[in-house]
Formats: sequence, structure tokens, C-alpha cells
Amino acid sequence: MGRIKDIRPLKWTGESLLLLDQRKLPLKEEWIECRDYECVARAIENMVVRGAPAIGVVAAYGVVLGAKEVAEKAKSYVDFKAKVELIINRLAATRPTAVNLFWALKRMRRIVEAGKSIEDIVAALETEAVNIERQDVETNRKIGFFGAELLSSREVILTHCNTGALATAGYGTALGVIRAAVEMGKEVTVFVDETRPYLQGARLTAWELQEEGIPYYLITDNMAGYFMSLGEITCVIVGADRIARNGDTANKIGTYSLSVLAKEHGIPFYIAAPTSTFDLSIRSGSEIPIEERSEEEVLYCHCKDCRIAPYGAKVKNPAFDVTPHENITGIITEKGVINAPNEEKIVEFFKEA
Ligand code: MRU
Repeated sequence: MGRIKDIRPLKWTGESLLLLDQRKLPLKEEWIECRDYECVARAIENMVVRGAPAIGVVAAYGVVLGAKEVAEKAKSYVDFKAKVELIINRLAATRPTAVNLFWALKRMRRIVEAGKSIEDIVAALETEAVNIERQDVETNRKIGFFGAELLSSREVILTHCNTGALATAGYGTALGVIRAAVEMGKEVTVFVDETRPYLQGARLTAWELQEEGIPYYLITDNMAGYFMSLGEITCVIVGADRIARNGDTANKIGTYSLSVLAKEHGIPFYIAAPTSTFDLSIRSGSEIPIEERSEEEVLYCHCKDCRIAPYGAKVKNPAFDVTPHENITGIITEKGVINAPNEEKIVEFFKEA
């Protein structure tokens, strides 16, 4: 249909990493330039960039910037390797839940450990980061294709958080499925959960859909059940931050409630995620570390002059929850769909993949 735009949250210049500041969207489109790895680490911590695949890609470029910084002063390969390891550890400490971060850093560490000359390693790290970025977009297009194939010619899709181009290197996962369905000529309307407290749905997903001209309604999170009960939602598609070996899936807080509501109303509930989001080293969702974010995200409505709770209010702010695999109709990956996922099917899927 030719209306899908090429939104990208990052640009690698060869010397620095440009990041679209997602804290400012949708009102301002401002870019931040990172010239060192610490800037990249802070950008991840402070949500300049967010979304599981995007964090992985950006961290990989952080390693490149860090390796370039230490290469000049390194006394030997051993010295260089030790310093890059500290940089990798710093980047790994930014956010705990999305496994794509650790997956990307593992790829970068492997290059350093391959041990050629420092100059060659720095060049190989840059090539690897560029590959991780490029492969992510290709992967998302495949997820989009497999996901869109599951949909009928007319769908009303509920989605949560932001899983679009902004959350990845481009195109998106769950939002990639929606993009692909539109590209296939399917008639799609999207219900976008605002996604309290950080409002990724209201600020980012709504912005992306508007840019594309894909019809959507923005709803508050507590409206989802009502629209399901009216029969207005035909399917739910969300992303993932980490999927355990049995299919239990960590994703943005509120995803679990949606899965329960979808089950109650007999609505298909899909996870769209690359295979890099699977953590086969853990057996179930109870082992997934859940990030606790600052109280301020709950106490204020995305700006400092808009406090919404009394002073002294105690807050809990888990950024993610875990959806049990029993609530998931299927996991859409770049290698195909795992229907009614469980440990046996996932292990078999990875053996074949
Ligand atoms: O806290 P965020 O904004 O990084 O959380 C993002 C999500 O939970 C997404 O749903 C997930 O990372 C998948 S993005 C393709």
C-alpha cells in the first residue's frame, strides 16, 4: 500500500550514535548524539531509547564506542580485553529484564575474545553492531509476515506499550505484524493502551500509527476489558522482553491482565518477538528479573509539574509482568509461529530452527 514509513530510533554515523529522544515524543523530535559508551548506558537507563530489541542494538554500538575509546591507550590485548569487559558490564547493568541486551552483548564479547589485533577487533566490533542492527530489521519483517498471515482480512487489534520501529532497529515486532497486515491490504484498526505509567502507548505507539496513517483509538489501560466485553476486539498482539523455556513471557506491566481478559473473552492473544528474546537458560517466568523503576513515574504524569498523588504516597512500580504460557495463543517469531507454547514445543522449535 506504500504508506509504511521508515521510522528509525537510531543512526550510526561511524563516529557517534544518534538517538531519537523518546522521552520527548510525540511533541518534539530531538536527537541526542552519543560519542562515548557512558552516554549510551545513560540513554538506556533514562529511557532515551527503550524496547527490548532497540536496547540490544544500541548497547552493541555502545561497545564499539567504548572499544574505540580504550583501544588508543591499551598496553596490550589483555589490557584491552579487560577494559572492554568493564564496558560490557556497565552496559549490561542498565536494565535487567529485556534479554536482548545480554544477547547482543554476548555477540560483542565473542568478537573481543576471538583475539586478533586490537585494530582488527575494533573493526570487527563495528561490523557486528551494524549486522545486529540490520538483522533486527530483517527479523522484524519476517515476524510481520508470519503474524499478518494469521490475521483475517479485517481485524481490530489491541496492543500494549510500544513495540514498533521505535522499540527496535526499525519496523517493530507486534507493531510490525500490524504494519505487515496493512501492507498486505488487510483492514486493520488498532486499540492502543496508553500503558501507564510511562505512557509508551499514548506517546509512542499512537505517534507511529499516526505517522503511518493506520487507524487507531487510544484507550486508557482500564478500558480494555470493556471493549473486549462489547466484542469490539478481535485479537491482542503484544511484544516481549524475555521468554522463558516454557513460554512464560515478561512484557510491559499490564500485559498479564490483558492475557487474562483475552482468555475470559475467547480472544486470541499473541506475542510477537524475535528468537533473541527467548532465554532458554531459565525454565519458567518466575526466574525472570523484573525491573523496579522510580516512584516518580507513578507519582507524576510524565512531567514534573503534573503530580497526581498526595505527597507521602507509597508507590510500587514494576516495569514488567509475566504472562503464563497457558494464556498465550501463539508466539510469532522470525522463524515461524509456536502455537500454544510450552517447554516441549519451544525446545523442539529451537532444535529445528
Ligand atoms: O520499558 P520499555 O519501554 O523498554 O518496555 C518495552 C516493552 O515492554 C515492549 O513491549 C518490549 O520491549 C518489546 S519491544 C519490541
